[in-house]
Amino acid sequence: MSAREVPDSQDPSGGRVVPGIDRDCDTDQWSPDLYEGKHSFVWKLAASVVELLAPKPGERMLDVGCGTGQLTARIAESGADVVGIDNSPAMIEEARRHYPQIEFRLADAHDFEFDGRFDGVFSNAALHWITDPNQVVACISRALTPGGRFVCEFGGDGNIRYLVAAIESASHRLLDKPAPHPWYFPSIAAFASVLERHKLDVTQAALIDRPTPLEGSDGLRNWVRMFGQYWLAQIPPDQHEQFFEQVEEISRANLFKDSLWYADYRRIRVIARKTHA
Ligand code: BEZ
Repeated sequence: MSAREVPDSQDPSGGRVVPGIDRDCDTDQWSPDLYEGKHSFVWKLAASVVELLAPKPGERMLDVGCGTGQLTARIAESGADVVGIDNSPAMIEEARRHYPQIEFRLADAHDFEFDGRFDGVFSNAALHWITDPNQVVACISRALTPGGRFVCEFGGDGNIRYLVAAIESASHRLLDKPAPHPWYFPSIAAFASVLERHKLDVTQAALIDRPTPLEGSDGLRNWVRMFGQYWLAQIPPDQHEQFFEQVEEISRANLFKDSLWYADYRRIRVIARKTHA
């Protein structure tokens, strides 16, 4: 099986995992160490999404936005033949290091193509980074065999509502201009209509509130360090401390409980089937 993929030496989207949101930045912003060290809940809380995929021995599976590969490996444990793709060279390198027996490719979710079809496409905590849902879902649909399944979970409508409000407000003060969040957090209706447009029938969909404890007293600022590069790249480094302090101050009433910071995650979880038509 071959894919039109991003050469390993190059990251044309501008260096974000799955498709880039900040096309001005020309380096890979992802830190596998910070991801695996402090944010392992991203895949630990998603083991049940792999259960929904229910991969079987001999099936072909694709993991879109595989990150450092933990869930790709979980899919492989079933005996399925799995390929992981991600747009971050650093994440792909780490995935290959962890799981040399699994195939990982550097590829953009907006623009990938394989020369064989898959029985299932899986994606966890990745699609909120996309900039053009129609393009991504068209690629996913094309990759699926008729009757094949697409199982995904990512940030849904209202995801990290308080955290985003705090970051937007603190960044507005420091940048002197609004910098609205760059993520795709669709409602069930909005995402279902994209899926249906591309011959994917929704069979299950849910919005799931999942307040998630962050590790340690620096939990909130580590989250912003890991996922808030869009703002950190615009704010001068000598003002980052001030930015973190303001985000914490604004968030405290809603996101700090019993000595722990929480991310106010809300997931959209969807199962869809590729039509036979
Ligand atoms: C999420 O997992 O919901 C998420 C992570 C980073 C940025 C935005 C959303």
